[in-house]
Amino acid sequence: MRRIYIFDTTLRDGEQSPGVNLLPEEKLEIAHQLERLDVDVIEAGFPATSEGDFLAVSRIAQEVREPVIAALARTHPSDIEAAARALEKAARPRIHTFTSFSRIHIERMLRKSEEEVLEMSVAAVRQARRYVDDVEFSGQDAGRADPEYMVRVIEAVIEAGATVINIPDTVGWTLPEEFGALIATLRRRVRGIERVTLSVHCHNDLGLATANTLAGLQAGADQAEVAVNGIGERAGNTSLEEVVMAIAARGDRLGMYTGVETREIMAASQLVRRLTGMPVQPNKAIVGANAFAHESGIHQDGVLKERRTYEILDPEAVGLDSSNLVLGKHSGRHAFAARLEALGYRLERERLEAAFRRFKALTDQTKEVRDGDLVALVEASLREEAEAVADHGGDAA
Ligand code: KIV
Ligand code: ZN
Repeated sequence: MRRIYIFDTTLRDGEQSPGVNLLPEEKLEIAHQLERLDVDVIEAGFPATSEGDFLAVSRIAQEVREPVIAALARTHPSDIEAAARALEKAARPRIHTFTSFSRIHIERMLRKSEEEVLEMSVAAVRQARRYVDDVEFSGQDAGRADPEYMVRVIEAVIEAGATVINIPDTVGWTLPEEFGALIATLRRRVRGIERVTLSVHCHNDLGLATANTLAGLQAGADQAEVAVNGIGERAGNTSLEEVVMAIAARGDRLGMYTGVETREIMAASQLVRRLTGMPVQPNKAIVGANAFAHESGIHQDGVLKERRTYEILDPEAVGLDSSNLVLGKHSGRHAFAARLEALGYRLERERLEAAFRRFKALTDQTKEVRDGDLVALVEASLREEAEAVADHGGDAA
């Protein structure tokens, strides 16, 4: 079994989500939760971009001691210096310097030659190594780049002292098989690759970020870069909870494990949702409100008899109390009776039938029947019955 390192970029790439702007104290709160989650690396921010980010990285570096704290920097000397200063108090600092690998980025965006980019990359890694022992190097848009050029740059930066090489599919272009093949090629072709940690960083433009990340890990990458709730630029980054739980659930097949404390996943998801103001879609894998909810009678009956009939993950493993049986028009008697019992009503057969008939009538008018509705419904049913008995008694008298 191979240990996979989890590099969380919620506070850097995740914060690049349109409309998200976290204050330094909010970033610190999330960083403490990421520490409870036991991620291996927290990318705390991009210190050269703003004073606020510089401050956030410094405070996280000072207060969050267990994980590696990474700060992002372009291959510019002033960026690297800012990252180094922000990380001064870190117990385990990492400077993460990045450029671009693809021709379109190099020619149209950086407006440099491939040789210039290679030279700047080597110089940046050397500079970063003067400040810290742990230096990560990334080339944006690796998914659309020429592998021959990538091999040359990666060999040169390893020679210059890079300890982690990250391969980003920045625009979410690749298919899983393709991205896996790229990682396998780099593993095979790059001289010195065995001396460094090989990392993958995927974006979700085609909804393939998790699949691509897993393909990269299967092809020999050791680190996955992810964000809580999958937040990030455009369609987002690979979601932490999907990769971690895929490895937790299918680790035997994948031959991998992580050090993540999965029971902290739900708390991390809720905190990130609240502080970023980015809602989580209800059907989002692992952390969506419906991820452990069952509505249809057949499913509810199955789950009540044996949870694993329709649940591949134990809700408690991600920090939930239990699965949730949603009462709606597809629900059956078993789920209805189970919910009533949980609410303190153990009704004998006829009473249960009467209440169930009322419940079914109600589901024609509403999408979901909540606990308060159920209590009102049962109480009304019991009251009616009591009144009928009283009337009957009255007649007899
Ligand atoms: O997507 C990307 O290429 C990045 C790099 C800065 C690693 O976020
Ligand atoms: Zn990214």
